[in-house]
Amino acid sequence: MKWVPVLGLVVLSMSGGHVAASDGGYPTDAASLASGRELAEIHCAVCHAVGPDDESAQAGAPAFRDLSNLYPLESLEEPLAEGIVTGHDGMPEFAFAPDDIDAFLGYLASIQSR
Ligand code: HEC
Repeated sequence: MKWVPVLGLVVLSMSGGHVAASDGGYPTDAASLASGRELAEIHCAVCHAVGPDDESAQAGAPAFRDLSNLYPLESLEEPLAEGIVTGHDGMPEFAFAPDDIDAFLGYLASIQSR
């Protein structure tokens, strides 16, 4: 919860690099959200809760809707591109394509519980 005021500033200062410009600069159209959700379901749902009210399948894996309580979603951009953030606990490392990162983070932004 402490991130909320900070997040607003980060979002403002980083939104310039993105095409669509609402809610953090990530796409919010239905097609992008659907593909972001699909990416989460394919690659992450084995362990993480990826929806608005499901439970994580693996104990200790944070529900995606709570990630913005941990840190700004923008901080995932680089690790996702470089495949770092996905290299945890038995997850095979892979990197998201730039369009996929936007769709994925747009979807994440849409389900945040804060
Ligand atoms: C094999 C199970 C598994 C898969 C698949 C998985 N995760 Fe995780 N993830 C975890 C666990 C367990 C944690 C908490 C412990 C840790 O951080 O290593 C975690 C933590 C995280 C965190 C919190 C930050 C951190 O590194 O502590 C993020 C962000 C994250 N995962 C993103 C993803 C994304 C994005 C995907 C899909 C591309 C994914 N994870 C797939 C198990 C998984």
